Amino acid sequence: MLPRCAVSVCHVFVLVLCLSAAEDFDWTKNDHGSFYYGTFPAGFSWGAGSSAYQTEGAWDKDGKGLSIWDVFTHKRGKIQLNDTGDSSCEGYYKIKDDVSLIKELKLNHYRFSISWPRLIPTGIKSDHINEKGIQYYNELIDQLLANKITPIATLYHWDLPQVLQDKYGGWQNISIVNHFNEFASLCFERFGNRVKNWITFNNPWSVAVEGYETGEHAPGLRLRGTGAYRAAHNIIKAHAKVWHTYDTQWRGKQQGLLGISLSGDWGEPVDISNQKDIEAAERYVQFYLGWFATPIFHGDYPQVMKDYIGRKSSQQGLGTSRLPTFSPQEKSYIKGTCDFLGVGHFTTRYITQKSHPSERSSSSSYFTDRDLAELVDPRWPDPGSEWLYSVPWGFRRLLNFVKSQYANPMIYVTENGVSEKMRCTELCDEWRIHYFKDYINEMLKAIRDGVNVKGYTAWSLLDKFEWDEGYSERFGLYYVDFRNKNKPRYPKASVQFYKRVISSNGFPNQREVENWRIKAIETCSSSNQLLAAEEQRSTAANILRLIHDPLTSHMEMVTEIVVPTVCTLSILLCAILLMFLLRSRD
Ligand code: NOJ
Repeated sequence: MLPRCAVSVCHVFVLVLCLSAAEDFDWTKNDHGSFYYGTFPAGFSWGAGSSAYQTEGAWDKDGKGLSIWDVFTHKRGKIQLNDTGDSSCEGYYKIKDDVSLIKELKLNHYRFSISWPRLIPTGIKSDHINEKGIQYYNELIDQLLANKITPIATLYHWDLPQVLQDKYGGWQNISIVNHFNEFASLCFERFGNRVKNWITFNNPWSVAVEGYETGEHAPGLRLRGTGAYRAAHNIIKAHAKVWHTYDTQWRGKQQGLLGISLSGDWGEPVDISNQKDIEAAERYVQFYLGWFATPIFHGDYPQVMKDYIGRKSSQQGLGTSRLPTFSPQEKSYIKGTCDFLGVGHFTTRYITQKSHPSERSSSSSYFTDRDLAELVDPRWPDPGSEWLYSVPWGFRRLLNFVKSQYANPMIYVTENGVSEKMRCTELCDEWRIHYFKDYINEMLKAIRDGVNVKGYTAWSLLDKFEWDEGYSERFGLYYVDFRNKNKPRYPKASVQFYKRVISSNGFPNQREVENWRIKAIETCSSSNQLLAAEEQRSTAANILRLIHDPLTSHMEMVTEIVVPTVCTLSILLCAILLMFLLRSRD
């Protein structure tokens, strides 16, 4: 028999082990290494993704209700060039076409989202269920399965029913949790016999911060310092509730998995030998991915968020923290509500410590709460979106961080990709080939490090509506000609490259991978010609239309030729007059 004190020591030891389930992440070692030739584990799942509002169009067709994005995009000045997702890629009418593109790539899975207001127009289930919306997703799912493509369905990719925003304040109000749960239950009931992989929320960070803190995204609220935290709090509760619903009511019959898709940029300390920079970088990641992952895996917000927001709130003279708290019951209800973790990742920042004093409550925000500054290396390539620098090694770092913090969960990469900014046609997207090649390679290295990644989803299948950037940023493997009413799709060179990665399940050797790149670039020039010919044809058709339609022709001539010419001439005239005036004064 062990003496009593030895037993107690053992107890304490076990307790300490349990409490520190999160391993330490080694911030001081960032070994980029060279390109690794090798293959992915057998059964690794390759996919591509999309979301409802970004691709479906048909915003007011067949009984669909309004979403906050329909309303937001119809207000002037919110979106680049006042673009909207009204018709977007017309995906609603192109199930067969798009499934054939997915087949062409030989994808194992396809990730799409279900539009809540297409199924429940007001968001409130007892009001009305729109069977036509159900029919659309039934067809999509059936087509995918008929072609041996596994559907991964996201329940919330940002298109909240407008009625729930107007009536309750959207994600600011706890009442939304039950409505979301009812919508999710409807999806399990109608689609769960065929969909076995569910994602509750896509990138809740954006919903909270851009929707309710900065207002760049729908519903466009600017509730600085509080809005994002409150929205996130309700989102986390809604996620947990839906997980429990699935677990207790559906899993037995349907045998599926349910997770959440979190976005996270990686934060690398500017100076890995400086403890302050390391702490700032860790804060950056904890305020980003950790904000949602820590409650879901450990039951509560990251300690660093509680400390920083709590301290700043009391410096502002507030009685309680701006970060809401979970009750003990809520903590245990939320903890462990994740069968797999979806990770969306695009880019990296260097991080350094920077204090933001917070005496005035009006200046406090999610961003200043973190006390840090973000930097980028000017050598990092940034072919597309302003925020998207290609830093492949950051991906491996992030995946290893997730492994160390949350006891090596099952991971699906739910988004990874790069955009281009050109409005003109560019099918020979060599930079995207480089991006995919290097990022996928870093994921392979992470798997060798022991990270449990089961699948990868390239973002995105098609060019599509890119939120506040409208159509100015193209993420697609397939180019979509938005000027043409039929929205035809054309493969970019990256399609050929990604296809080879998939068929080889990785990177066999240098010579072959280099050949894939060269071949991909060669083939894209023929697609380019096809697109150019189609563009010429549609320009000619437009000219003919203008000739045959005198009223439109007159109006377009006025707006496109007369107005700009008159403006330019007036400016010129003013400049000349001003010049004369100045000369005569001399
Ligand atoms: C994450 C969002 O989930 C997705 O909708 C968007 O297209 C990408 N970021 C790129 O900005």
